Amino acid sequence: MAKLGLFVVGLLHVGLQIVAAEKLELVYQWTQLRDGNKRPATQNVVFSNDSVNNTEETFNAYGNLPMGVTHHKGFLYVTIPRRRPGIPATLNVIDMAANPSINDPTLMPYPNLLVNTLRADSVADPKRIVSVYRTQVDRCDRLWFVDTGYLEYPGGAVQVQRPALWVIDLNVHRSVRRFEIPPEMVEFGFGIPNIEVDVDASDCGRAYAYMPDYEERQLYVYGLSEGRMWRFEHNYFSFEPRYGDFNVARQRFTWYDGIFSVAVGGRWRESSTERTVYLHAMASVSEIAVSNRILQNETLANLGNAVYGRAFLHLGPRGPNTQSSSHAYDPTTGVLFYAEVNRNSIGCWNTNKPFDPDNHGIVHLDNEEMIYPADLRIDRDGDLWVISNRLPIWIYSKLNRTAVNYRIWRQSAFKAAAGTICE
Ligand SMILES: *[C@@H]1O[C@H](CO)[C@@H](O)[C@H](O)[C@H]1NC(C)=O
Ligand SMILES: *[C@@H]1O[C@H](CO)[C@@H](O)[C@H](O)[C@H]1NC(C)=O
Ligand SMILES: *[C@@H]1O[C@H](CO)[C@@H](O)[C@H](O)[C@H]1NC(C)=O
Ligand SMILES: *[C@@H]1O[C@H](CO)[C@@H](O)[C@H](O)[C@H]1NC(C)=O
Repeated sequence: MAKLGLFVVGLLHVGLQIVAAEKLELVYQWTQLRDGNKRPATQNVVFSNDSVNNTEETFNAYGNLPMGVTHHKGFLYVTIPRRRPGIPATLNVIDMAANPSINDPTLMPYPNLLVNTLRADSVADPKRIVSVYRTQVDRCDRLWFVDTGYLEYPGGAVQVQRPALWVIDLNVHRSVRRFEIPPEMVEFGFGIPNIEVDVDASDCGRAYAYMPDYEERQLYVYGLSEGRMWRFEHNYFSFEPRYGDFNVARQRFTWYDGIFSVAVGGRWRESSTERTVYLHAMASVSEIAVSNRILQNETLANLGNAVYGRAFLHLGPRGPNTQSSSHAYDPTTGVLFYAEVNRNSIGCWNTNKPFDPDNHGIVHLDNEEMIYPADLRIDRDGDLWVISNRLPIWIYSKLNRTAVNYRIWRQSAFKAAAGTICE
């Protein structure tokens, strides 16, 4: 009895110190996306009134798999990459004020339907967007993304046009930059799944986009003021052979995806101006770090890997089953959050602590509702946004079309880290 008493007292004592970790909150969910034109009562993909010729394509509900989510001032930018025919818009927005219910929020083509509509003749059209995986919003109210220009249709992939980096000013809903990625950088754009933006603290004109290519295992950098793109190559951008085996929701598969996500972190060592950039491959459990001054140096990039190779630091493994799609850094807490696709979880590491698997924690794990967190962003208010979409079931089996398959989550980074090892 004495022992038990001690145990209880000890437990209470510990309990007083712990601030309960708050899991992510469900914001929106869908079973399948629906065609707003035909079923207005339950619409969630809305065709606008633009007189758009979209005759050759009929809406394909199953093919509309949402992939990326970025929040900005009450609007959620949601992408649907064109991996099947029948997708009316690859870039969409949810007006949160107009969608108070958690179920079936309406997606509206962004900036409009015409820009998102495929030309029936498949001719390149720089005014249109073909396929987008993920987006990023910077502190200057600009939406950045790569249009891969590529239709990944099974049995009939088509490069409609050159992949291009887009920058849209969200205050006026106009494109302020469109940069075609030249063939010297990469032949096809379908391996560019993600983007991170690094903006100068006082000058919106000085901004850099970091774009990983999991297929070619390269990292492209675009300088907004330079108006040019350069690239880095490194063995650390490759997949790790021992970590290519995935087991998600009873689907077992092997992936070879290389560099997949880039996150701008805090200070690089003692420097007040340089920042640490974190990156990782998808089929990998390792994290890499490099100074943003390296990435922003076009001259250095052109000198080749033999010159810059050692500037990329291999921090080590994060822990078992921590393969991650997107990750993002919260400047207030100093915590890096990971969307962990191989264990249906959101993970974390406080960058003020040594990089070690023991210092990596789990914020949220759910083997039913958090299957395949495909994207993770942190907005300017310090809120974490996640979309989960059950992608492996969609690819290797069949989604249950009457179950909830797609979910958007939110939590303040501070609350998410509280009570975990990342506090
Ligand atoms: C379509 O046009 C009508 C009349 O111009 C307008 O009231 C309605 O809001 C428009 N719908 C969309 C989805 O833009
Ligand atoms: C739509 O297609 C028809 C037939 O191909 C053509 O006559 C018409 O001008 C097109 N409308 C627009 C708005 O492109
Ligand atoms: C860029 O790299 C080159 C080659 O290492 C170096 O000479 C130059 O000083 C660097 N520029 C900056 C701004 O760091
Ligand atoms: C599909 O999901 C619905 C709703 O959750 C459930 O009732 C049904 O049993 C599921 N079907 C299968 C085959 O699992």
